[in-house]
Amino acid sequence: MPKKFYITTPIYYPSGNLHIGHAYTTTLADILKRYKKLDGYETYFLTGSDEHGQKIEQKAEEENLTPMEYLKDKVESFKTLWNLLYIDYDKFIRTTDVYHEETVKKIFTKLLEEGYIYEGKYEGFYCVSCEEFLNSDQITKDNRCKISNNAVVVVQEDTYFLQLSKFQNFIENDVLASDFLIPAYRRNEMINSFVKPELKDLSVTRTSFSWGIPINENPKHIVYVWIDALTNYITALGYLQENDSNFNKYWGDKDTEILHLAGKEIIRFHSIYWPAILKGLNLRQPNHLLGHGWILSGGTKMSKSIGNVVDPIKIIQKYGADGFRFYIAYELPTEKDGNFTEDLFVESYNAHLANNVGNLISRTNQMITKYFEGKLNHSVIKMNSVVEKEVISTINNYKKLMDEYKISEATRVVLDLGKTLNKYIEEQTPWTLAKEERFEELEEVLITLQKAIVAVILLLKPILVENTDKMFNDMGISKKQIEIINFDNILEMKFEKIESKQILFNRIK
Ligand code: MSP
Repeated sequence: MPKKFYITTPIYYPSGNLHIGHAYTTTLADILKRYKKLDGYETYFLTGSDEHGQKIEQKAEEENLTPMEYLKDKVESFKTLWNLLYIDYDKFIRTTDVYHEETVKKIFTKLLEEGYIYEGKYEGFYCVSCEEFLNSDQITKDNRCKISNNAVVVVQEDTYFLQLSKFQNFIENDVLASDFLIPAYRRNEMINSFVKPELKDLSVTRTSFSWGIPINENPKHIVYVWIDALTNYITALGYLQENDSNFNKYWGDKDTEILHLAGKEIIRFHSIYWPAILKGLNLRQPNHLLGHGWILSGGTKMSKSIGNVVDPIKIIQKYGADGFRFYIAYELPTEKDGNFTEDLFVESYNAHLANNVGNLISRTNQMITKYFEGKLNHSVIKMNSVVEKEVISTINNYKKLMDEYKISEATRVVLDLGKTLNKYIEEQTPWTLAKEERFEELEEVLITLQKAIVAVILLLKPILVENTDKMFNDMGISKKQIEIINFDNILEMKFEKIESKQILFNRIK
């Protein structure tokens, strides 16, 4: 039985256009899925859109459309972006999908029957733009929401509560005391900010708007966004539905590795509410939540009013998907906030893709073609053993880091191998060996490079999807071989005569 991996992104709000921040999370998920697949896992990758709530209702109204009309184009634009980025998701969930809506109602009923949800009354502060009830520590002295900075309103409303207080001990001593939340420093942050001050019961229905899922028990109540949204991770698999084979296969198996990705401002929902809901439903917990920082543009958070929102489509059209995916993988480690500007992007592209990886492939390709007409004799001469050791230790380090979801560090290890190989060329001076007709030594150097470069390409395969086949081709690896290459047979590939030389990762001027 192959090992299994289930990975999810947050489902994005279609209330605006997607920007580089959303593309960031989705690309990280795609890279991890592709890595796991290469490593022999059976994988399932879920993304989607979070379509209910007051904001969507208002947006549609502003444009004189019904919410569903408004959402149609938005969702199409999400999918267009994912296609441009080569995102290989297995399912796209919309929270307006009928199966999702029906299952959310059932989930609500289940939690109600188990006594984890009760009916009550909410009195207090409400932030319209966050669509959230606020505690006194979430508002400023002059009654503004600390997150949105908008004036809060005082409301009184009938509502159902999720009894989070019942999960206080579980969240504090099980979930947040384990290795569930990554990076580790976020665990204390959650405990100190939300759990230690005691978990307050959470209002999970609204009566003030109608664009959402009404509960069966009392249809004037709409399920409030977080129960609706978080449960997508199981409804998409078929939980409580007739066809629940994916649910049983992935969530139902305790050995499936389950990973959620989420940005720092929604870690709270994923590391407190979501584990509580799962516990209430008597379901297993995900293995990890990888919480990541924000991408800033020119040092500040992107926002329409500042005018610093980076449109990923423009960057992809200008420089290609691989350049963009590479920047995300390498330059934006998940533990902290990162920066994106076009200048930084070009600098990184030139330094790593053009001067390191692209250059390495191109000069090796040229030398094999020039000195040996494209075909080296691997059966007689072997790869240099020092370089071989270096390649093997790179593969091991890379895998260890990727298994910890440290994509940036794993990429660095591969780039370091690329640098070593470029240096190896400078030291061995194949052109001198050729001039002096030391052909055996020359062939060993080129065989060493050819094999090691194939390893570099394979390790970059989860990231550089647009160019991988071309890169392999330039090293004499046939289509058939590309299909079977993996981490175990990486150094045993057969080489064809090199016929091609494609222009890869040209320097950007
Ligand atoms: N709909 C909710 C998520 C529900 S998941 C059950 C939501 N949607 S969102 O569209 O506002 O944001 C989705 C994700 O995009 C979040 O993880 C958020 O952190 C991420 N990003 C939005 N802007 C970002 C940056 N500038 N940088 C990095 N990620 C950012 O929240």
